[in-house]
Amino acid sequence: MSALASVSAKAQTAPASAPYIAVEKITGSQSLRDGIEVQAGAATLRITALRDDILRIRVASAGTFPEDASWAVLPASRSKSVDVHQSEDAGSVGFRTASLDVRVERSPLRLVIRDLDGTIISADAVGRATTFQHGGFSVYKDMPTNEHYFGLGDKTGSFDRRNQAFTLWNTDVGFQESIDPIYKSIPFFMGINGGRSYGLFLDNTWRTWFDFGKQSRDSYSFGADGGPLDYFLIYGPTPKQVVEGYAYLTGKPPLPPLWTLGFQQSRYSYTPESQVREIADRLRADKIPSDVLYLDIDYQYKNRPFTVDPKTFPNFPGLVSDLRKQHFHLVTITDLHIAHAPAQGYTPYDSGTAGDHFVKNPDGSEFVGIVWPGPAVFPDFTRASTREWWGGLYKQFAQEGVAGFWNDMNEPSVFDGPGKTMPLNSVHRIEEPGFATRTATHAEIHNIVGLENARATYEGLLKLHPDERPFVLTRATFAGGQRYGFTWTGDNAATWNHLRLATQMLLNLGLSGISFVGDDVGGFNRSPGPELLTRWIEVGAFNPFYRDHAEKGSLPHEVWVHGPEQEAIRRRYIETRYRLLPYLYTLADEASRTGIPIMRPIFLEFPEVFAPSSSAFNGLDTEFLLGPSLLIAPSPFGETPDDYTVSFPKGQWYDFWTGLKTATPPPSPSSFDIVTGATGANSPATARIHPVLDTLPVYVRGGSILPVQPLIQSTDETPVGPLELRIYPGKECAGSLYLDDGHTFRYQHGEFLRQNFTCESDGNSVRVGFGVRQGTYAPWWKTVEVVIYDWPSKQVDAALSNNTAQLKTTYDASKRALHILMPDSAKETELRVRTH
Ligand code: GLC
Repeated sequence: MSALASVSAKAQTAPASAPYIAVEKITGSQSLRDGIEVQAGAATLRITALRDDILRIRVASAGTFPEDASWAVLPASRSKSVDVHQSEDAGSVGFRTASLDVRVERSPLRLVIRDLDGTIISADAVGRATTFQHGGFSVYKDMPTNEHYFGLGDKTGSFDRRNQAFTLWNTDVGFQESIDPIYKSIPFFMGINGGRSYGLFLDNTWRTWFDFGKQSRDSYSFGADGGPLDYFLIYGPTPKQVVEGYAYLTGKPPLPPLWTLGFQQSRYSYTPESQVREIADRLRADKIPSDVLYLDIDYQYKNRPFTVDPKTFPNFPGLVSDLRKQHFHLVTITDLHIAHAPAQGYTPYDSGTAGDHFVKNPDGSEFVGIVWPGPAVFPDFTRASTREWWGGLYKQFAQEGVAGFWNDMNEPSVFDGPGKTMPLNSVHRIEEPGFATRTATHAEIHNIVGLENARATYEGLLKLHPDERPFVLTRATFAGGQRYGFTWTGDNAATWNHLRLATQMLLNLGLSGISFVGDDVGGFNRSPGPELLTRWIEVGAFNPFYRDHAEKGSLPHEVWVHGPEQEAIRRRYIETRYRLLPYLYTLADEASRTGIPIMRPIFLEFPEVFAPSSSAFNGLDTEFLLGPSLLIAPSPFGETPDDYTVSFPKGQWYDFWTGLKTATPPPSPSSFDIVTGATGANSPATARIHPVLDTLPVYVRGGSILPVQPLIQSTDETPVGPLELRIYPGKECAGSLYLDDGHTFRYQHGEFLRQNFTCESDGNSVRVGFGVRQGTYAPWWKTVEVVIYDWPSKQVDAALSNNTAQLKTTYDASKRALHILMPDSAKETELRVRTH
C-alpha cells in the first residue's frame, strides 16, 4: 500500500515528552482508491478497506505514519485492498464498500461505521476525541447498553469482558480469578449486539489496555503506552464471520499431528528416568488410553536448556525409543533462557554468543537475568538469524526422536528483573523481512517474545523434519500465535473455581484465534481431591488440548491415584475422547482451514441468544460446544451437590450417553433474524440436573452425524471394526469426516479422506446421504455401522440406493437406537431406512 512511502522508524519510539494532541476536527481530506485520508490539524487519519468487511484504521499524531510493519498480520492480507465508492456531504466525508458505510464526521471528528442498512456497527464516542499523550494514545468508542465483549485471549474474570478493564503485558504469574495481566497479549476482541457482531484488533505490541466500562458507563476505550495507532475493524454480522475475518488477518492454525489430540501426562517433574518408565508402564497396564509424556525442567543438567542430566537420565535416547515402542510420544521442555555459562562447554551459550544472538543492555553488553538455570541470557527472537540458530538447537533432540517441544517462561520471565521481566530499555535488534532493520527497546518487543520464540521453534522443527508436523506448546504468545501451535492457560490451581474459570478462558482463547488450547487438568498449584480431579478429567476430555500437569510438591494426580473407583470413571472419559477422535480430528481440520475454534461458546453457533427479546441464556460461561454438535454442561458450582439448570440452545437435543431425546421440549422455533434482530419467543429450553460424579452432562444437537471409532489405546493403533456414524435426526442434518496419515504433510498433496453426510427423516423413515469421498487416503474401516437414534421399532427395511439387498440391522429398544451394518462406500450413495 502507498503507506510504505511514508515510513519513519523514529516514530516507533515516540518520546515521553511528545505533545498532547487531540484528533478533533477535519481540516482536509483526500480520496484514496481503497479508502480515505483525513487531516485533523497535525494528525492524519487513514482508513482503508482491505476487504469489503475489513477496515484498517491508522492515525498518525504528527502527520507521518510510523513504520508499516506487523508481527501479527499476514503480509498477504495487509497488502490487499478493495476499491471503494467515495461520498461526501456537509457534515462528513467517507466511503462505501459492498458491506459497510464508513463516515468521518467533520466536527467533532468522529468515525462512524454502519452496515448498508444504516445500523451503526461501531462509532467513536461522542465528546471523547482520540488523543496522543506521553508517547501513547487513547481511543474511545460508544458502548451500547446491550453490547457484549469477548476475546483478549485467556484473561481472567468473567466470560463477558464488559464492565472489566485489562492490561496486555505478558506476565509470569500464578493466577487467580482477578489477576491481570497474565501470560498472553491478544489485543483482539469481538463486540456483539443483538446477535450482530464485529471484531476490533489493535495491531500494537507495546503495553496496551482495554477498558469496557470501568472509566465510563457508555463508552469503552483502548490505548497503548507507545507504538502505532493501527487497528482493524472486522465486520460479521455473525460471530463466526468475525472469527474467520480475524483468521484471514492473523492466520489459521496448522493441522496438528493426530497424537497431540490424545491424552497427555505431565508433571513438574518426572525424574529420574525410572519414574518416567513407571508412569508409562502404569498407563499401559491400567489401559488408560494415552499418547504423550512430558519431561519438565528437572531432566536437564543444572536446568540448562538443551542438555540432559546424565545422572538422572543416563540413557536418554534409549528412553525415548523405549517409550516410542510403548506408543508414547515424548515432549520435553526447552525454555528460552540460555544459562550464562561462558567457557563451560555449554554449546547453546557458546554458539549463541559467537552468533551475537542475545538481547543486550543499552551499553551493548549481554543482558543477564536469573531464571531456572541461575544467571541466563535471552535469545533475541526478533532477528531472523537468531530464530534460525535457535531452531538448529533442536537437532539432537529431534534426531533422538523427541516428538514435540514445550516453550515455557517466554513472557519472558526473569526472576530478578523489574516486574519479573527484563528492563524496558533492554535492546532488541529487529532484522526481519518487511521491517526496517533497527533496534527496538524491550517495551516494544516484550509482548511478542513468546510469539517469536514459538515461531523459531516451529520453523526450526520444520526445517529439521520437513515432512513431520511440528508440535510446539507455548505459554506466552501474541495475536497470530495460532500459526505456531498450542498453548495452555499456565499455572492454575487445584480448585473448583479454577475448573470453572478454565471454560471461559479457553472459549475466549478460541475466539481470539487460538484453537488448540487447554489447561493443566487437575490444577497446577496445590492438590486436587478425588472428586475435583475426576470432574476435571471429565471436562478436559472435551477440551482441545488434554494434559494432566502438576506443580512440584503437589500430591500425585495421575488418573489412578484415588483408587479403582475413581480411576474407572476417569478411564471411561478418556476412552470417550479416543472414541470421538474422528470427530475431533475433523474439527482440527476445519480449524486449520477456517480458523473456527474447536471449543465454541454457545453464541458462536447460536448468535440469537443475544437477540434483544431473548431471555437471558444461563450457562453461557460454563456450558460450551465441542464443534457444532456436542454441548457440554458441567455444574457451575461443582463443589456443591445442588441441582442445577442446563439451558439448551434452540432445536432438539439428545443425551450423548443414552442417545435419548432430552425430556424438555425444545423452545418454539425462533424467527430470529441476525440483521434486524427480530425474533419470536426465544427463551431457552432447560433441564434440571442432579449432579452425579460419574456423569458429565453431554448432549448432541439434533441434526448431527457424529463419526465415532472403536476404542484404541493410543493413536498409533489402527482401530479394528466398523466406523460408527451416529445419526441424531433433526433439522439440517449433516456431518463430515476428515482423515489422513496423522503426522506428515502428504495431505497437502491429496492424501486425505474427506466425506460429507446428510440425513433426512420423518418419524418412520430416514435417508442418509453419503457424499462422494474426496482425496486418496485409504480408510481403516471396511464397514460402517450407522446408528439411528430416536427410531421407533425393530421392523425395518434398510437398503442402499444402488443395491436392493437388505442390510443387517439390530434394534436397541432401551436407547431407541437402530444399528445398521453397511459396506464402506467411497462413492455417492444413499441409505434408505423405513419401518414396516
Ligand atoms: C512454569 C510452568 C509450569 C512448569 C514450571 C516448571 O511454572 O508454567 O507448567 O511446570 O514452570 O518448568
